[in-house]
Amino acid sequence: MASSRGEFSSRLGFILAAAGSAVGLGNIWGFPTQTATNGGAAFVLVYLILAFCLAYPAFMAELVIGRYGQANAVTSMQKMSRHMWQKRFAFIVGFGGVICAGLILSFYGIIAGWMMSYAVEPAANLLGMQSVSDWVITQGHVRNILFAAVFMFLTIFIIRKGVEQGIEKWSKRLMPALIGLLILLILYVITLDGATDGLRAYLQPDMSRVFEPDLLISALGQAFFSLSLGTSVMVIYGSYISKKENLVKLGAQVTLIDVTIAFMAGLLIIPAMYVAQHQGVQIFAADGSLISGPSMVFAVLPSLFEGMGAIGLFVGFAFFVLMSIAALTSSISMLEGPVSYAVERHNLERKKATTLIGLIIFAMSVVIIFNLDFMLDLVAMIATEYGQPIIAMLCCVFVGWIWNRNDMLVEIKQGNPEVESSLFWKVWPWYTKFVCPAAILMVFIHSL
Ligand code: PFF
Repeated sequence: MASSRGEFSSRLGFILAAAGSAVGLGNIWGFPTQTATNGGAAFVLVYLILAFCLAYPAFMAELVIGRYGQANAVTSMQKMSRHMWQKRFAFIVGFGGVICAGLILSFYGIIAGWMMSYAVEPAANLLGMQSVSDWVITQGHVRNILFAAVFMFLTIFIIRKGVEQGIEKWSKRLMPALIGLLILLILYVITLDGATDGLRAYLQPDMSRVFEPDLLISALGQAFFSLSLGTSVMVIYGSYISKKENLVKLGAQVTLIDVTIAFMAGLLIIPAMYVAQHQGVQIFAADGSLISGPSMVFAVLPSLFEGMGAIGLFVGFAFFVLMSIAALTSSISMLEGPVSYAVERHNLERKKATTLIGLIIFAMSVVIIFNLDFMLDLVAMIATEYGQPIIAMLCCVFVGWIWNRNDMLVEIKQGNPEVESSLFWKVWPWYTKFVCPAAILMVFIHSL
């Protein structure tokens, strides 16, 4: 089976693909927004600790499951099971992840479509097409469906081509573009008046808030969403890694890239907000908190770009292209989860499975678009606040309690023969067994 499956052709290919999945709207929009609403640098600090101490071990659990099983999440976990009840449990966890990925894509595609429409606006403006540029930034069913369709088309286009020619090739193209654009935008924005106030707000921690329960929950949720956990995605990406690679190191590198890009996005967004304030734009809500959520991305930042005159058209265009690229490298991973499941478990041909599943998810997006007021938040909440943490926790339970410890060691030793004497092996197995499930559960119960 392994030879007919795809595999990342290089270490860099995997790193960029997994980082591409991890780095998305969650980093560039979610992280700065959460930082702004949760006490600035206090949130950054807690996020960093949770990302490395809880999300990274859980991320490793998912990667190891996939590389051991060399298959989709359900098949991989069933290979680890010895009893019938374990195989049933494997099905529930694996399939739950696949459904979760599909649900996330159904609302993520709509928001990504908005990013694309806001990138079209300055371009249309530049070409003198005023009515087009007004239309693309006005809420409406036709606009929402059109841009969600274009975004889904791009996602399907890449996934139809498979692991090497699709996911890997496009991640290698898009990720450097994303990092380059992000750096250029930061360099530009921090030269503007007002940016230093933003940097101060971003980097000075309000230590009194570090132990606030809401802050802890938001930081953990953000870390899990950002590493795409609990969706079967990292299991399937893990299954495409060669047995020659050192998983422990690869996982750490991807986590580091994800956290770094989220941090860099904060260096762009928060100073940009304060620059906007300097130009007379309202950036604080009535309760005194920094404006976050959709109005930050679709109202405050566009007014900032508008206030910059002609150059604002280019900056605005670059910013929304950056958002669209980040969304695309994540959405391809969300589609790969269900597609690999359909191909491997139901013998569907890859191209057909991709188009079919892509269209089904798009149909769900259309249903959400017609009920935007309540369904967008509802689907996002079900998938990201309940689905992801529960499934990620169950993956840890699987690795910690069901998998044979010896098989675990044999798997991790591949590509990393010295692992047995490393700190990782001393800590990670019991950490995944006790600490991760307990911590996730605690945070989860607390959030209820
Ligand atoms: N990690 C992505 C982000 O931060 O935007 C979101 C995501 C990707 C969630 C893939 C789930 C997933 F399966």
